[in-house]
Amino acid sequence: MNIQTLEKNFISYFNAKPQFIVRAPGRVNLIGEHTDYNDGFVLPMAIDRAVWIALTVRPDHEVRVHSLDYGSDSVFSLLDLTRDKGWGEYIKGVAYELQKAGYDLKGFDAVITGDIPRGAGLSSSAAVELVTARAFSVASNFEWDAARMALLAQKAENEWVGVNCGIMDQMASAACKAGFALFLDCRSLEIQYAPLPENAAVVILDTSTRRGLVDSAYNERRSQCEEAARWFGVKALRDVVIESGKWKMENGFSEVAMKRARHIVTENARVLEALRVMKDGNVKRLGELFNASHDSLRDDFEVTNDALNIMVNCAREQSSCYGARMTGAGFGGCAVALVEKDQAEEFAAAVSASYKQKSGLSANVYVCQASEGASVLEI
Ligand code: GLA
Repeated sequence: MNIQTLEKNFISYFNAKPQFIVRAPGRVNLIGEHTDYNDGFVLPMAIDRAVWIALTVRPDHEVRVHSLDYGSDSVFSLLDLTRDKGWGEYIKGVAYELQKAGYDLKGFDAVITGDIPRGAGLSSSAAVELVTARAFSVASNFEWDAARMALLAQKAENEWVGVNCGIMDQMASAACKAGFALFLDCRSLEIQYAPLPENAAVVILDTSTRRGLVDSAYNERRSQCEEAARWFGVKALRDVVIESGKWKMENGFSEVAMKRARHIVTENARVLEALRVMKDGNVKRLGELFNASHDSLRDDFEVTNDALNIMVNCAREQSSCYGARMTGAGFGGCAVALVEKDQAEEFAAAVSASYKQKSGLSANVYVCQASEGASVLEI
């Protein structure tokens, strides 16, 4: 997104220059899928696609936001927040949670735009939530506390919007650092910045399929994990330690719950190993962990679709590919591949062609850079 274009649009809409421009990125999860709501580990990185808000503080409690992408407005008073439908609910939900947490919010006039594809598993909703929180923090002059903002944004999504997500997407959009992936312990919210392999590129492979019925399938996975945790007698599946090869069905433990639990337990181990091998610069092993993660999501957690499996196979067929896996909630959307850096463009072209041939669908494949979490831009 070109900041000048956003500024120009703001000026033509509100007849004045904006005071601030804030930005919050989408994310691609490198590894650690469906582990966040099991108190586990994740390793996302913020991508160079984001949502931007240009704004000017108002003297009252009105919030007026014009969306360039939807061509419509969301207008409400901070003194009277009521539920409605549409994109503005993400903004209202964050305002509601911030006020409930004691923040004294000022209204603003704003223009919002973004370039994260929606429903693709790249956290466009979390980016809207975090850019909103960032906008309120500059407008109302309170300090930016990434973890606190991420938790409030998650609450807004859970309670105001009604999607029962974990904490990964909001933490990634709030707290990532350019050039690094973010290792997050979803129980303690402890973070570590993990160096990305120097000789590898992170490539996003959008299948162009979009997840359908995702909320019910997502919630079903959550309850299956909770059922499994109860069976093990632990607070969350994070607490289960089982040596590989020891998985077996026993009385009272359904095959489905066993498979779900096995994915979470093995995936948590993979994330911890991924962090170690990233620190050691072992890109080959990191690629193998990507592959193992996808296979577990396909066979045990059962959240891939045909398009994701075809895409991942197309990626793995390329000799420049270290590893590939689905990313995000699944059921459609994107995969992510780790690829030899100087081969990345050739890889993208080859995978697009072979995916088109095998699935009949057009892919959108691009190399992405690890970007900064929610931030205020210089105008
Ligand atoms: C979605 C949710 C996250 C996480 C992932 C799966 O992106 O918003 O909290 O559960 O799915 O890893």
